[in-house]
Amino acid sequence: MNPKPRICLAAIGMLALAVGRAETSPVSTLPHLAKRGQAVQLIVDGQPYLALAGETSNTASSSLEYMDTVWPKLVEMNLNTVLVAVAWDWVEPVEGKYDFTLVDGLLAGARKHNLRLIFLWFGSWKNGISSFVPGWVKADQQRFPRTLIKSGKSVEILSTFSDVNLQTDTRAYVAFMRHIREVDSAQRTVLMIQMQNEVGLLGDSRDRSAAAEAALARPVPPELVAYLQKNQETLWPDLRKLWEAAGAKTAGTWPEVFGTGTAADEIFMAWNYARYLGHMTEAGKAEYPIPVFTNTWIVQPEDKGPGDYPTGCAQALTIDIWKAGAPAIDLNCPDIYLPNFNEWVALFHRPNNPLFVPESREDAGGAANAFFAIGQHSGIGYSPFGIDNPSRMMALPGGLSGQPLPRAYALLAQMTPAILEGQAKGMIGAAWLNTKLQKQDIPLGNYVVNVDLRRNRRNPAEVPALGYALVICTGPNEYLVAGYDVQVTFTPSTPGPEIAGLARVEAGQFVHGVWTPGRILSGDDILLDYDLAGAASRNQSGSGLRFRNDGPTVQRVKLYRYR
Ligand code: DGJ
Repeated sequence: MNPKPRICLAAIGMLALAVGRAETSPVSTLPHLAKRGQAVQLIVDGQPYLALAGETSNTASSSLEYMDTVWPKLVEMNLNTVLVAVAWDWVEPVEGKYDFTLVDGLLAGARKHNLRLIFLWFGSWKNGISSFVPGWVKADQQRFPRTLIKSGKSVEILSTFSDVNLQTDTRAYVAFMRHIREVDSAQRTVLMIQMQNEVGLLGDSRDRSAAAEAALARPVPPELVAYLQKNQETLWPDLRKLWEAAGAKTAGTWPEVFGTGTAADEIFMAWNYARYLGHMTEAGKAEYPIPVFTNTWIVQPEDKGPGDYPTGCAQALTIDIWKAGAPAIDLNCPDIYLPNFNEWVALFHRPNNPLFVPESREDAGGAANAFFAIGQHSGIGYSPFGIDNPSRMMALPGGLSGQPLPRAYALLAQMTPAILEGQAKGMIGAAWLNTKLQKQDIPLGNYVVNVDLRRNRRNPAEVPALGYALVICTGPNEYLVAGYDVQVTFTPSTPGPEIAGLARVEAGQFVHGVWTPGRILSGDDILLDYDLAGAASRNQSGSGLRFRNDGPTVQRVKLYRYR
């Protein structure tokens, strides 16, 4: 059965209660998302916040002793936020008896190390599968129905079409959120919640249980139809095409409105997962209203169709379905391990879906990803997965703080006030480069900022494997550029003299938010090309900013123009 509206009503009632009893902290001081100028930002303790985060491996947080060994390393890696799991099984091992010892221990550990937390609720599903539900749920298939696939077999995946599943997970989640309100609303260590983990059905394009078949034959809910009609012009093109190909109907069963086939199945599943997670989120927010997001197992190149990846997850095709079905969920976020990070963030960053990347890489590519998500897509944060994994960063020579991501985080932390200001003003951009994508032009302010992989002056064809930059326009002729293995030139984009020259370039750093110049760069440090005639023919000066591979580092540049 589909989730019933009574949960909504209960949630509204609880919201009134929660607002009334937030004695220690009015709702507006809780972490929340707010539009500041052109960007939606995470507001923490009344100030915009940039989450320089990392996610621990799945079961790390089930042992406080283990976490005691991890916290100091996370500090050394320059994280300010940690994503840690809380599993339904860990807090309700016996039905109706809650044990929040782990939650309290995680809060204490984070606070001791001056870190913020984002809790991942591993409830009904984790990577599609119901592996983190309590044993008493797993063992009672009669009471807690599973999903049925084509072969007639059930899989270890709780069905979304069960009120009992929904209510039992919701009861535990609400108890968890109530506990967070009780123990954290004064200190606000917890910033956001991830609802479940990479939900969706693996093994078939949709649930084939009797309850699912019955739901498929019922009319598409009017809320979804109303959303499609209201947003027809801006719907994701493939979703719009599918709906219009079936006649853009405003009433009918699922096959009548969306046709048949695996994409239609995926839409059907997305609605049902969205309803389930949306209802849980509403009920949780009634206790303690902090932002909630989902994470998606994105389609992999080898996947032939939904079911190879979890069908029903918020994919590019179905984000609209999630927005219609789960308005209480603030963000639908992608987990991106694929090399084309730049394309995936662009698919998920939409006007109604600000960007947060809860899982990605932690290596040099991860540093580039963090810069790009935050700079080019005004992301509210970045978080590589498995940050505690001893076989990864922790095992490398050079110490933790010397690794690429911690270095990148150190610089992003220094620059945070300027970054958040740039996001709000719409005056920030970023480049994400590799040997296949060697250049990027960023229109920003009165110039186009041309970012190129750093060239060897004697052999310009020789380029590094990756480079990245984050650019903030701070005045009509002034930019802050943070970069790694790139060179940067400027092209005027407003009427006037065609060539941009470098009036002054400073290397430096931000100390407590204030720019503190170091070396004044000129000569070899800015020279790109001695062929001044060739450069002039391209309206270039032959000079530019150069960033080596010892960073990332930041420079401030003042430009002038000549012809
Ligand atoms: C994505 C999942 O969301 C994580 O919990 C973890 O299982 C990773 N995959 C493993 O690479």
